[in-house]
Amino acid sequence: MEAFLWGAGISAHQTEGMNRMSDWWEFEHSVLQKRGVEPSASCVDHWHRFREDINLLADNGFNAFRFSVEWAKIEPREGEINEDALLHYDEVIRYAKQRHLTLCLTLWHFTLPLWAKKKGGMLNKDVQERFFHFARICAKRWGNDVQLWITINEPMVYLMEGYRWGHWPPNIHSVFKPITVFFALRRVHRKTYSILKKEQIESIGIAKSVISFVTQSRFPLFQAIQGIRNIIWNIAFFVGEWHSHDFIGINYYITSYLGKAPKTTKDAMGWSASPEGFLFAMKQFKHMSKPLFITENGIATDHDDERITYLQSHLPMISKAKSLGIDIRGYFYWSLLDNYEWDKGFSKRFGLVAVDRATMDRKPKQSLEQFGI
Ligand code: BGC
Repeated sequence: MEAFLWGAGISAHQTEGMNRMSDWWEFEHSVLQKRGVEPSASCVDHWHRFREDINLLADNGFNAFRFSVEWAKIEPREGEINEDALLHYDEVIRYAKQRHLTLCLTLWHFTLPLWAKKKGGMLNKDVQERFFHFARICAKRWGNDVQLWITINEPMVYLMEGYRWGHWPPNIHSVFKPITVFFALRRVHRKTYSILKKEQIESIGIAKSVISFVTQSRFPLFQAIQGIRNIIWNIAFFVGEWHSHDFIGINYYITSYLGKAPKTTKDAMGWSASPEGFLFAMKQFKHMSKPLFITENGIATDHDDERITYLQSHLPMISKAKSLGIDIRGYFYWSLLDNYEWDKGFSKRFGLVAVDRATMDRKPKQSLEQFGI
C-alpha cells in the first residue's frame, strides 16, 4: 500500500438499491414518505452495475475504491446469513482487484437491519454481538483482499441525526440518548477492532466527520469556544482509544467560522468549505502520529464547473499538509456517483458521474476525467 491512494467512495444503501430489510427502507416508506421524499427503491442500481462503476474509476486513472457492505442484506433476519449476498460482494471485490483498485471497506455506513433497529440498535448488547459476528464473517472472507477497514462511518453524525435531531432512523429526539449512543459506538468500534485484528487485518479505523472550527479572531473567548467545539466534535471519539485506531479517516465538508469569516459560497447542502478549513482538518490529527486518509470530501452541486473549482482549490492542500509533515496517505472523493442523499432523497448531487434513473445510464462528468491521474 505504498502508492498514494486516489479514489472515490460510495455506500451500499445510497447506491445499490432494494435494501428492503433495512431500517432505512422502513423509514423511507413511513416518515420520509410523509415529508414527500422519494424512496431509494432501485437507487442507482449499483448492485447490478458495479462492474461499470468500477470501470469508471479504473479507466479514469483512479487507483482506489471505498465502498460498504450492507449488513441488512448479509443478515436480513437475525441469525440468518444470506450466502448469496456474500457471493455478490465476493464478486465486487474480485472485480475491483482485477481492475487493480486498492479497496477500502466500510462495515457500517448508517444503515441497520430492521430487526436490529427493532431491538434498540447498537444500544442493545445482543445487536452488538450480532454485528461482531458479521464483522468476523467479513474479515475472514475478505481480510486478504481489502487493505483499509472502516468499522463505523461518522459515529457523531449518526448519533446526532438519529438520536438528537431525529432526522434519521431511529427518529429519536433526545438530549441525553446521544451520549449513551456515543459510548456504545466507542465500544462497538473497540471490540470490532480487536475482532478484525485477530484476523490479521493491519489497517483499521473509522471515517470521522471532521468540521473545521476556525476563528480569525484573536479574542481568547472565540478561540476557546472553537477549541471546545473541536474537542467535542472532532476529537472526543478517539480520546482514550488511540490504540484501537491504525489510521484516521477524515470526512471533510464544512468549515465553521466564529466571528469574521472570509467570503465562502454555500453548496446545495448549505455547507461552506474552504481550502484553509481542509488543511485545518488535517492538522488536527498531526500530533496523533497515525496515517491519515481523506475518506470523504466533496461538494453537492448541479454545476460541475463548481465541483472542478472546488477541487482545484482544495486538492493542493494535500501537498501542503505533506510539506508540514502530516502523514497523509490517500484521498477519496465523495461520491463516485450521484446517489441517494439520505433524508434529502436524490435531490443533492455529489457525484463525479451522473445517473439517469429512468435508464440507469451513467454519464461521466468532466470532473471525473479531470481528477483521474
Ligand atoms: C456521509 C455520506 C453522505 C455525505 C454527504 C457523509 O456524512 O458519510 O453518506 O452522503 O456525507 O452528506
